[in-house]
Amino acid sequence: MALPPGPRLPPPLQTLRLMARPVPLLERARRQFGDTFTLRATPVGPMVFVSDPESLKTVFAADRVNTIAPGRNLVLAPLLGPDSLLLLEGDRHLGRRRLMLPPFHGERMRAYAEVMRDATLREMDGWRPGRPFRLHSSMQEITLEVIMLAVFGVGRRRREDLRRALLDILAAVRSPVTIGVTMPGVRELPRFRELRRRVAAADAVLAAEIAEHRSDPDLDQRDDILSLLVAARDEHGEGMGDSELRDQLMTLLLAGHETTATALAWAFELLFGRPEAYRRLTAEVRQGDGGEYLDAVIEETLRLRPVVPFVGRKLLKPMTLDGHELPVGANVFCAIYLAHTNPATFPDPYAFMPERFLESPTETYSWIPFGGGTRRCLGATFAQFEMRVVLSSVLERVDLRTAGEGPQPMIRRNVTLAPRDGTPAVVERVLATEREGAPAPT
Ligand code: HEM
Repeated sequence: MALPPGPRLPPPLQTLRLMARPVPLLERARRQFGDTFTLRATPVGPMVFVSDPESLKTVFAADRVNTIAPGRNLVLAPLLGPDSLLLLEGDRHLGRRRLMLPPFHGERMRAYAEVMRDATLREMDGWRPGRPFRLHSSMQEITLEVIMLAVFGVGRRRREDLRRALLDILAAVRSPVTIGVTMPGVRELPRFRELRRRVAAADAVLAAEIAEHRSDPDLDQRDDILSLLVAARDEHGEGMGDSELRDQLMTLLLAGHETTATALAWAFELLFGRPEAYRRLTAEVRQGDGGEYLDAVIEETLRLRPVVPFVGRKLLKPMTLDGHELPVGANVFCAIYLAHTNPATFPDPYAFMPERFLESPTETYSWIPFGGGTRRCLGATFAQFEMRVVLSSVLERVDLRTAGEGPQPMIRRNVTLAPRDGTPAVVERVLATEREGAPAPT
């Protein structure tokens, strides 16, 4: 069975481009070959990319029989560990999802609103009118604080050493080239000993947290995520061992903050590029009725800048996609970025127009920033809720303007697509503040 056609660049070059600047490569391939094409990357092999809604539906609907494509294991396993939810398969994956989902939904999740708002206000205390700063770094501080408090418990000792270790790990794997550190062989090189040391430092704190939670006689009174995971039992009455808990914590901490921080930085970036949208959102937030438009801004941000550009599955059954018969073992990638810039689904796809989501709601297989099927992002609702709280907390209190030099290109940072210069901004005016020590209103 022949795979769909694709560019004839040598595979090492395709690999580098896919790691460093995936969007131009994907766009060019779509222009040349249509919605469905094959890229060849080492060491994954042929990667079939699809992006039409029908194919996406077929792939995600078959998730019970698909497995994850090998790239995810290669890149993430050394950091997250083999028991990470992101890497589990089949019934074990579904069972663990059931155990881990509740804190990210409903009342439990809404209880984090105050934590999210407070973390935003604390970070804003460091913003000085007229002094430029990078919104991406600020957003990263906020989302890391939020996920750590959600995971380990509000009001508990700040885990400064863990915070530093996690930021160190992310800094060490930031550049697309160093994604290679996570690959077998390469990661044994002495140069990457430092990264292993940082992971060991984070592991030591996680182990201490797990031990402390396990020995707490009042565990059932606590509602932080680690307490719920320590107490959770599967259908055989089995709980998670220490090493699995470590992997799940590392997964939530790393998957749960860099992605959301990047999406928030993009939201500001896109709003700066369309002042009338910025003005409308700010006015609505300050009048206390920003709900619908705020949600539309978030949806449109995740459409046009979908932090994770593609997700992959390996087929365990033959499948016909966009007229191509694909064999068992084929690696199929749902090209989120291409699905979101398909003009048949989103007219004028490169324009930032939140209004489009006011007119028609998101469609399950056209708007897929969180992937889909049984592997859809566990934190999707949490992330959108956090974006809502952080954006409104900022826009209520300050007038911001860009301090950058025009629109920011998308670059690969860790596994996300981030604004190249980190969205430089400057506070023009502080409107009101309820916090002590914050700059007085001007
Ligand atoms: C804007 C922010 C976020 C984006 C764009 C995002 C995106 C994604 C994507 C694309 C996937 C893969 C889905 C697939 O393979 O179909 C995923 C999986 C996952 N995400 Fe997120 N994510 C975000 C925030 C979060 C947060 C806040 C958490 C946790 C607190 C989280 C935890 C996870 C986990 C545990 C998985 C694995 C799910 C599974 O395999 O069953 N993510 N995310």
